[in-house]
Amino acid sequence: MWKPAQRIKYKPLEATWPSREEARLSHLFSPLQLSACPLEQRTWVPAMVPWRASEEGHVTEDVLDWYGRFARGRPGAIVVEATGIRDVPSGPLLRIGHDRFVSGLTQLVERVRRESGGHTRLFIQVIDFLGIRRRPEREKFLRRFLQVTDRHRLLLGNTDLADDAVRQQLCELEDEQLSDVLDEREWEALTMGQRERVTDTHLPHIAELPQVLPGLFADAAQRASTAGFDGVELHYAHAYTMSSFLSATNTRADGYGGSLEKRLRLPLAVLREVRARVGENYPVGCRFLSQECITGGTDLPESQRIGVAFAAAGMDFISLSRGGKFDDAKQPKVGEAAYPYTGVSGYECMPGYISDEFGPFGRNVEPTAAIRSAIREAGFDTPVVVAGGIHTFSQAERLLADDKADIVGFARQALADPDWFEKVRNGCGDQVRLCQYTNYCEGLDQKHKQVTCNLWDRLDLNEPGIRKSRDQRRRLTAPDWRR
Ligand SMILES: Cc1cc2nc3c(=O)[nH]c(=O)nc-3n(C[C@H](O)[C@H](O)[C@H](O)COP(=O)(O)O)c2cc1C
Ligand code: SF4
Repeated sequence: MWKPAQRIKYKPLEATWPSREEARLSHLFSPLQLSACPLEQRTWVPAMVPWRASEEGHVTEDVLDWYGRFARGRPGAIVVEATGIRDVPSGPLLRIGHDRFVSGLTQLVERVRRESGGHTRLFIQVIDFLGIRRRPEREKFLRRFLQVTDRHRLLLGNTDLADDAVRQQLCELEDEQLSDVLDEREWEALTMGQRERVTDTHLPHIAELPQVLPGLFADAAQRASTAGFDGVELHYAHAYTMSSFLSATNTRADGYGGSLEKRLRLPLAVLREVRARVGENYPVGCRFLSQECITGGTDLPESQRIGVAFAAAGMDFISLSRGGKFDDAKQPKVGEAAYPYTGVSGYECMPGYISDEFGPFGRNVEPTAAIRSAIREAGFDTPVVVAGGIHTFSQAERLLADDKADIVGFARQALADPDWFEKVRNGCGDQVRLCQYTNYCEGLDQKHKQVTCNLWDRLDLNEPGIRKSRDQRRRLTAPDWRR
């Protein structure tokens, strides 16, 4: 992952923990009504893909264990990982794109209800994403994948060349010359792996996204409701389709790109269709970016307008992340795919302990506060969720007291210690295992390996009944808290 040049090393913040009584009286452990859904406390575990679904995208025992473990810590809400809305093979990514996924998802809901004693609400994040290929071998790309065009012939100086001859000449060029002959997208396909964009409207399946996606999201939301989830979170963040429609870089000329009004059309159409399907009382929210953190990307004033538009359209909650884009991703190795959390925007999304003067803690707080206050000024009381580097009670409590957000997301901190919520609520905060922000977990995610935390994944490996990683070297869930 990219790291800020200053390379200042941070440790978790000094924490002062509340007594049980102080926790009881705190903002963090006070209830909040989220549309029809009551949250017992303002704590939230944001979506995190742990790579535990089956190759066909079904809920497995490992998925049940993973969320069951979070549920025993009894946070106010858990959002199940980004779950694919299409009925297409997507590797071990959880899926909700067909009715056959509903029974597994129902078991997941039941497991969380049981393990949390009914105290934790469960949402599911639903996602659409576009195609991306692995970075190819140079020779293979030039001999097989590249579509030879007259532009190549022209630039090679011989318009009569047969395709094979063009390929041969391209193979013989030095990279510098080759980059002049290939166009920008061909060069990207060679050096990064081919990646579809929402602006590729010459491709029929990309052109028709505005017609297809509202129905797919609505079907997914309907299945989430049937499975018993307390609500859905539309994934409008990071590097994926809906975020790309919202992005200032979306220049589609078909009425779904260009001005902010046009970029908002599809995300609002998706919400309308979802709402029509699941009804007014079913909680539907979204996650989007306070800032894209890329050159030419959506900035804070625009995100404030997006937040107001979503609130006005009836989103029941708004969860804010930042960054996490493909646009500035690091070049992958040959045979690997680009990963959207490897550049500056990736750092902003999941800041690590090596940082700049600002540090890794709470980088998303002020942008979130600015969006929330725009929403409030426009007359809406939509709850706003913040996340990013929050790990102590005081951080969370202060930002709620200062009206910067309504709900506090703890992603990696909940991964490091799923019992954070129960420990702090019971006056045992000094027993919390604090996240060190090393991003070991995120490195596993990048390789699509089962995500764990290095603070606990080698502890008590011989404990009976625990599930281990495929190589048997790591436990897959944190040891239980023995009070
Ligand atoms: C392993 C891992 C997987 C993640 N998967 C998702 C995801 O599926 N959807 C999403 O919106 N964010 C995802 N995130 C981002 C987190 O939800 C969160 O925004 C980010 O980690 C910053 O919050 P934190 O500092 O509390 O960890 C993931 C993060 C990690 C570490
Ligand atoms: S591996 Fe554990 S300590 Fe490191 S960032 Fe992830 S959750 Fe935090």
